[in-house]
Amino acid sequence: KNIVILISGSGSNMAAIVKTAQREGWQDKFGARVAAVISNKASAAGLVFAREHGIATEVLEHKAFASREAFDAALVQIIDHFDAPEQPALVVLAGFMRILTPAFVGRYTGRLLNIHPSLLPAFPGLHTYQRALDAGCKVVGATVHQVTAELDHGPILAQAAVPVLPGDTADRLAGRVLTQEHLIYPRAIADLLQKI
Ligand code: GRF
Repeated sequence: KNIVILISGSGSNMAAIVKTAQREGWQDKFGARVAAVISNKASAAGLVFAREHGIATEVLEHKAFASREAFDAALVQIIDHFDAPEQPALVVLAGFMRILTPAFVGRYTGRLLNIHPSLLPAFPGLHTYQRALDAGCKVVGATVHQVTAELDHGPILAQAAVPVLPGDTADRLAGRVLTQEHLIYPRAIADLLQKI
């Protein structure tokens, strides 16, 4: 099974998935490997890590497309290289900062995952930590979920909770939650690989 990871930035979740796959021998265990990393930004630091680890990389600049539909259609074409009816790829969003069209989501239903930096269903969307601080939340966290047409919704596969400490800022929370993301995302993917 091919795993295709979509990123926009640092790609630390992608790197955690790649490292866990290697450490745990996903190839032998599940016949699965991270086959490609696709970024909508050429400057995404995660692309360097992927190349250094011998993973195929592609850059698809969303700005080059007139519409979301056209961008998603081009994205599907790239993913198609790693996707086959008898061997459907897992499509993993890891800090991919684009909203996907219903057509894209529908195509990969059940094998399209996302990680979101809040305890969903609380705080879908952006600026989750500041919103959680403003609301006086005592715990924050991250959620791995199946992607559905509605943004940051869909069946929850894994969550990690992190307590809010006195003096916490959005940045400090983001750092502590990210450490947990690096544990739960590879775990959730391995669980899914075991089932499919
Ligand atoms: C993570 O906090 C993730 O939850 C959010 O974007 C961030 C991506 O970080 N969707 P990275 O690119 O994996 O380092």
